[in-house]
Amino acid sequence: MGRMPALVVMGVSGCGKSSVGQAISDAVNGTMIEGDSFHPEENIKKMSAGHPLTDEDRAGWLARLATILQDAVRNGERPVLACSALKKSYRDILRGKTPDLGFVFLEMTRQVAGERVSHRPGHFMPASLVDSQFATLEPPHGEANVYPVDANLPIVDIARGAVAWWQRTPGADGGRPMQPAKAQSGALKA
Ligand SMILES: Nc1ncnc2c1ncn2[C@@H]1O[C@H](COP(=O)(O)OP(=O)(O)OP(=O)(O)O)[C@@H](O)[C@H]1O
Ligand SMILES: [Mg+2]
Repeated sequence: MGRMPALVVMGVSGCGKSSVGQAISDAVNGTMIEGDSFHPEENIKKMSAGHPLTDEDRAGWLARLATILQDAVRNGERPVLACSALKKSYRDILRGKTPDLGFVFLEMTRQVAGERVSHRPGHFMPASLVDSQFATLEPPHGEANVYPVDANLPIVDIARGAVAWWQRTPGADGGRPMQPAKAQSGALKA
């Protein structure tokens, strides 16, 4: 693999973090880590009731994920973490324990996010929380080791591009941000 020891697949609810993360992990014989599984019970109750999480709610959860990533890297694994990581401060918590951490940023419109989430009965994220996700989102453009990609592309294509990016020669771009992958639909041009 390239110099990035682990990847985070990030973006708003419904953008495909779990699906794409699993596809990347399968392709590289990696370790899939589902960030949502590590929320404390209080956070899940809050989200289920339609209340967005605060930075305080997320702090312990992110610290736990950072340690899990660090342990997996130390263990010689190739961890792929599905985690919304909406704010730079959240990403920095993860980076704090895994230098050169890579981020696959699944970009999508508010409309598509809402449609996807509304088709998932029983999931703890109500569609009403999608608005707050977009309000919270600080896109990672300009940060190092970020691969932005159109979340409307087929999952296999997103995963293929992300794996190629992850595997490319270390240091080839000096850690500068990548150009976005080409979108076929043009949905993100606005
Ligand atoms: N690229 C894609 N093209 C079409 N459908 C997709 C794509 N990615 C994900 N989906 C579908 O969208 C829905 C949400 O995907 P997924 O659960 O992977 O998103 P998520 O970002 O992990 O959501 P959450 O934040 O709620 O955990 C699923 O039904 C999934 O099959
Ligand atoms: Mg998910």
